[in-house]
Amino acid sequence: MRVLGIESSCDETAVALYDDAAATFHERIARQEDIHRPYGGVVPELASRCHIESIAPLVEKTCADAHCATPDIDLIAATAGPGLAGGLLVGLCYAKALAYASDTPFVAVNHIEAHMYAAGANESLEYPFISLVVSGGHTLLAHVTDDTAYTLIGRTRDDAAGEAFDKGAKILGLAQPNGKVLQDVAENGDPLAYDFPRPMRHDPSYDMSFSGIKTALLYFLRDNPNAPQPDVAASYQAAIVDILVEKTLRAAEENAIGTIVLGGGVSANASLRTHLTEEGNARNIRVVLPPFCLCTDNARMIAYRGAMLYRARGADTLDADIFTRFVAPHPCACAG
Ligand code: KG4
Ligand code: ZN
Repeated sequence: MRVLGIESSCDETAVALYDDAAATFHERIARQEDIHRPYGGVVPELASRCHIESIAPLVEKTCADAHCATPDIDLIAATAGPGLAGGLLVGLCYAKALAYASDTPFVAVNHIEAHMYAAGANESLEYPFISLVVSGGHTLLAHVTDDTAYTLIGRTRDDAAGEAFDKGAKILGLAQPNGKVLQDVAENGDPLAYDFPRPMRHDPSYDMSFSGIKTALLYFLRDNPNAPQPDVAASYQAAIVDILVEKTLRAAEENAIGTIVLGGGVSANASLRTHLTEEGNARNIRVVLPPFCLCTDNARMIAYRGAMLYRARGADTLDADIFTRFVAPHPCACAG
């Protein structure tokens, strides 16, 4: 089956063609960082306009890369949410129009679920597993039991882990306020140099909290303006990673689940990948890491998740709508 995947929930237009029989992907991404940089964050209206300009040429080029004409596409999948309404509308409406015009089945994909299952596009996943999704807007732990069923067992009560990285990079005055740049600075620092708080560490729930670490960083730099930046970055990163690793391992151990699957942009973080793998393996827990191309936002995971959903429950109707906030399909088992 050849699946066209479209992702437009934030500031990237991504298109992928996934051939699930051959397990091959072709992908093109149009990034908008340069357009939003002067404003210090993503401007939704500018993002939607960029998506409109990018989407048709990207689809054409991706199909050409894959030597696949539109009539040869067997399924069209697009992100329906959560994300910015304007961008979602562009991607979803384009996908539905193409599906209608070419009489091709269509599936609406939840972006967070796509992160949750994304590692499966690279290596096979066995159920059940504990999923840790860590992105720019969401941080959650889920108990995943099959292709369509999972229960949310923990989540952040305030900022997402990615947000903590981005805001931390901004407070540190790094050229680009994102997690990758903070990680690069932290690489030359000592993670034990300073002791940033690990909020909710001893809370029995699997919920997390990251906004206090960011405030601690702000006050620390006010009081210690000459502290070496790499040491500060490394210590700050260590606090975020410790919370994620501890909560995830506890979720796996207490629920007697032998596999942890990581997903979302922050899963590209080297320290998180290393610590989770080492500490998981020490407890006989398999830790599945997505390859970098499946960590940050991409259309491969949308196409892959679309194929999975289509096999499990068939196509969606063309009245599928966008949604801006993540809502768990099952009652949340987490506190708060
Ligand atoms: O999943 P994603 O690409 O977009 C959302 O769905 O939000 O995640 C983006 C987040 C950003 O906060 C970005 O700073 C973070 O992932 N990120 C990282 C790294 N690469 C991306 N955070 C820490 N270390 C990284 N290497
Ligand atoms: Zn994402």
